[in-house]
Parts: sequence; C-alpha cells; structure tokens
Amino acid sequence: MDLLRFGAARHLQLFTTTYRSMHLLKNKAFVDGKWQHAANNAVFPVTNPADDTVIGEVPDMSEKDAKFAIDVASKAFKSWRDSTARERANILRKWNNLCLENVDHLAEVLTAESGKPLAEAKGEVIYGTSFLEYFADTARHVTGEIIPSPWPNKQILVTRHPIGVISIITPWNFPFAMITRKVGALLAAGCTCVIKPSEDTPLTALAAVELAKQAGVPDGVVNVVTTSRNNAASVGKLLCEDPAVGCISFTGSTNVGRILYGMAAKGIKRVSLELGGNAPFIVFPSADLENALDQAMLAKFRNNGQACVGANRFLIHESVFDKFIEGFKGRIGKKCILGPGTKAGVTCGPLVNKMQVDKVSGLVDDAVSKGAKVVVGGKVAKELGDKFYQSTLLVDVKPSMEIYHEEVFGPVAVCYKFKDEAEALEVANSTRGGLASYVFTKDLGQVFRMSQKLEFGMVGINDGIVSVAEAPFGGIKESGIGREGSKHGVEEYTDIKYTLMSALDK
Ligand code: SIN
Repeated sequence: MDLLRFGAARHLQLFTTTYRSMHLLKNKAFVDGKWQHAANNAVFPVTNPADDTVIGEVPDMSEKDAKFAIDVASKAFKSWRDSTARERANILRKWNNLCLENVDHLAEVLTAESGKPLAEAKGEVIYGTSFLEYFADTARHVTGEIIPSPWPNKQILVTRHPIGVISIITPWNFPFAMITRKVGALLAAGCTCVIKPSEDTPLTALAAVELAKQAGVPDGVVNVVTTSRNNAASVGKLLCEDPAVGCISFTGSTNVGRILYGMAAKGIKRVSLELGGNAPFIVFPSADLENALDQAMLAKFRNNGQACVGANRFLIHESVFDKFIEGFKGRIGKKCILGPGTKAGVTCGPLVNKMQVDKVSGLVDDAVSKGAKVVVGGKVAKELGDKFYQSTLLVDVKPSMEIYHEEVFGPVAVCYKFKDEAEALEVANSTRGGLASYVFTKDLGQVFRMSQKLEFGMVGINDGIVSVAEAPFGGIKESGIGREGSKHGVEEYTDIKYTLMSALDK
C-alpha cells in the first residue's frame, strides 16, 4: 500500500470515529434537490485546521457539474419567480426556524472546518440565521412605484423583477452567514442560485442547504457545487460567464473580485461584490477609553482577525496612546485564549490554512525587520500546531512597512499615534479599501464630521461591530459594489422595469 493511500485511510478512520456524531455532516454536493457525486466521481478532503484531521470528503466538481447546476437553477427559476412573496416568506421563515433548532449541529460543522471556537460558531449561526428571518419579513415589501406622469392620459409604472439565476461564491471566514445573507435575499426576490462555497469550508454550506430542503425550498432553487482549489478557477469562470447566469454575488478578496468582475463584464452581468477592507479604528481624546478597548477587542479579534470588517489600523490620539496600549495589552493577555475551537474557554482558534499563517507571519516579520515593536505575540504558537498565530500587538509601525498598507486578515493589532483630526482622517482615507471604519469620541460635532468625511461604506461610532441584518453592509472604492442585508440587499437581486401605460383615455 503506498504511503499516501495509507495516510488517507488513517484519516478517514479518524473521521468515522471523531466526526460520526455530526448530524448535518454531508459528503455529497446538492443539485436539483438531490445529493450528488461529481460526474467523474472525484472527491477532495476537507480538513480541520486545528489538527489536520480529515473531517470528510466532498465531490470535486468540474465545469460540467457546474453547468448542470446552472441549467437546473435556470429551469427552477421559471416556477420559483411566479411563487407569491408570501409563499417565499413562509419558506424562509421555516428555514430560519430550522437553523435556530439546529444551532449546535451547524456550529459543530462550522468549528470543525473553519477552526473558529464553538461559542463563536454558534454566534455566527445565530447572526447568519437573522438574515433568513429578516428576508422572510422583507419578501412581502419588495414594491414598485407609480410615478406621476407629465401627461394626463398616461401612467408610469415601475415594477421590480427577480434577475434570474445568481452565482454565489462564498468565503471561508463566515461560511454560514455569507450564504444566508445572499441566499435569503435572492430567495425573497424570487431568484434561484448555484453556490460555490470555499474549498476550505464546503461542509457548512451543505449543512445549511440540508435545512433549506427540509424547510421546503423547491428542488433546483438552491444548489451547491463543491470544488477543490484545483477546479475553483474554472468553475468560478463558468459561474461568471454562463449566459444563463444573471448576477454574480461574491464575498472575498479584492484581487479575486477584480478577476470575477472582469469575467462578469463580458456578459454585462450584474455583480454584488463584498471585497477586502482596511478598516481604521480611530480613538479621540474624548472617547470612553474602557468602551473603546472593549470594542477594539471585538473589532480586531472577532474570528481571530479574519474578517473584512476587522479593524486593520488602530489610530490613537497621542494624548491617550500609552493608556490605550497598556489596556489593549492587558485585555489581549486575559481574553485571547488560543487553542482548538472545541476546547472549553478557547477564544481564538487556528487560522484557516497555512497560506493565511504565512501571510500574517510575513507581514509581522517584515514590520519587525523594519523597526516595529512587538508589545505582545508576534509568532506562530508552535506548541499548538502550525496554524495557530499568537494574538499580537505592534507599535512603531511606519509607511515603509507592508503591514501599514495591507489588509492583515489575522490576529495582529497595528497601532499608530496621531496628533489631530485632520491627520487621523488623512491616514484613515489613505487606502483603496473602503468597507468599515470605527470612531471613538464623545464630541458630537466630531461624530458628524467623521461620518461625513470617512471614505468608507460603513462607519461605527463608539462601536466595534456594525454588521446586522437590518443595515446595508458594503463598501466603496476597491471594497466592492452593492449592498447586502437591509431592503437594499433584496433589491440587488431585482431588475427595475418601467412600463408606460398610454392611451388611458381611449
Ligand atoms: C466579513 O467581514 O467578512 C463579513 C463579516 C460580517 O458580516 O460582519
């Protein structure tokens, strides 16, 4: 027996002993309401980043499988678009209820493949499920307009129509919530979809659609095509370029978003892109420092820093800088407990894969080599494995360092001193990223000025988390196009039609 196959057999044995109890663990893709193999029966392993054990194998689907799924979704659209908003709302509400009944089952799958601590995984499921509830309510409020016309015998009617098949490409950092935020909205609008989850976290997507099936989502309306890293690019291309697809909704890096946008442009397709950020976290002298520090922990260490809305650069006024650093260091020491996500008390799990670890290490090492000072952390926590990175606090960071400009996407807080509001604004806006930003102040005038002048799609005043189903989530500049959540999130999946009704006096 060759060593590779022996290794695989041992991992699969581990899978059957370690992961047997997971009720929502699936090992097939989901197309046309059925659990499907890849046409060529290829599979790939999904591993637990905490210990590299194989959780399961899923189909490694190719363009042929993805094309089949698009055709299925296209056929299903013909009847789903004619369902009533009330019917769609009821199904979404059932899906919401089933997810809430299965929080623990969904969370164990999520923790196993993403590494995030169990409590945080449950938090993501509850957060993600809130989109299903919200869009169940919103489905019945997707309305049009009658615009007063300039002619006495004519009416201007504006109606909204579902776009059709939506290609959904989701990331590994919030593998449940990024699906519900998109799929909840598009179902409410009357669209159908093909989801390509990240190759690191396909199991959460499959668990989520098992519950969608139980909730009564008709066959073919929601489909999941799983692919390994090898097939991801070709399947992604097809999902963007197939003429039957009306819109591409992607959450992920700006680099990949740029490629997908280019592909979508060929067919003049609609896009909804939630891309990388470079969020400033600005603390002014009037801020309640204890609150700012508590929020800094959330803004930086939620999901171990692997969030596009995560605080990337802490800009702290010089008069409170030392106090802030002291408080931050103390809180990191007390609250960042590194370990496998299933271990009680752990608050920071592994990074999702080796590439992430290498990226974070590379940025910190570059900064340190150019003079940055490590207040805490700064290394891979080798005693835990090769994917755990110490929660890190850096000061004395300069523009010559890569970390000054790059989105870190890891547990590294980078702090700068500023002198006045103008400097804080200039540094904060000196990036092509424009997703989230955070400001801490009690000065009301300053609140308005910052809200006005920060070039970001979202501004949190005295708060480190802005995401909620009711609000429009999204960025400007290279952080994306379109909004998710809120009524705007549903409208993304509709086209506006203007009908001129004339000769009404004849
Ligand atoms: C993200 O940062 O990737 C999305 C997380 C959120 O919805 O807050």
